[in-house]
Amino acid sequence: MDVTRRVPEHVAIIMDGNGRWAKMRGYPRTMGHRKGVEAVREAVRVAGDLGISYLTLFAFSSENWTRPETEVNDLMGLLKAFIRRDLAELHRENVRIRIIGARDNMPGDVLPLLLEAEETTKDNSGLTLVIAFNYGSRDEIARAARKLAARVAAGELSVEAITPVAFARELDTFGIPDPDLIIRTSGEERLSNFLLWQAAYAELLFIPDFWPDFSRETFMAALESFARRERRFGGVDPVAAAVSR
Ligand code: FPP
Repeated sequence: MDVTRRVPEHVAIIMDGNGRWAKMRGYPRTMGHRKGVEAVREAVRVAGDLGISYLTLFAFSSENWTRPETEVNDLMGLLKAFIRRDLAELHRENVRIRIIGARDNMPGDVLPLLLEAEETTKDNSGLTLVIAFNYGSRDEIARAARKLAARVAAGELSVEAITPVAFARELDTFGIPDPDLIIRTSGEERLSNFLLWQAAYAELLFIPDFWPDFSRETFMAALESFARRERRFGGVDPVAAAVSR
């Protein structure tokens, strides 16, 4: 099947299995995360090559802070190194970076880097790489609800004006279309607080490979599986559903 004929506009990935990948080889977990960054680079390249418009990667969840301090520090280090080393090249490749997640409790040296990445690339028109960092969907939804409640309390907004469209405008993903395909690696079959609102009509694909093994071939196979699926968005006619979106 020619997957380039039906490429999803937005692919989101839960990059899982770094720890198990490392354990299987007798390496420290850190090594799994390091190899995971290489898989990130490859996924970004493939998404760009295939004309996917948005690629969202779950890099660090709001729950990941409960991991041992050394692992948290290591993940922070990898993210910072990724931005420092790869930002110039991503910019050259016309990639636009967006960050989603809570910004209030981030380590002081991470936030400026993420803001710099967003600012530097904001006018680029190629792939949008959305990095979910310090991200948890329930937290995102609660923050959106608080913003709307504050506007109601200030008399700027009526209660009736809180529609799904108005709500989505307050989410971190404002301006980003909902994901068409959510992939989770490592064989786990759950969303783990990732894009719960946005996943309403996403196709879900759970694959057994650990994230460090996610290759161009794995990505292509996932896209092939997506291309074979019929999406109806709650209706009965897949063609009408696609047109009305
Ligand atoms: C899940 O594997 C993976 C993570 C919690 C972190 C993902 C981060 C990276 C790939 C590197 C940094 C990201 C970017 C965008 C540069 P796990 O540790 O939960 O694996 P396990 O379930 O096997 O223990």
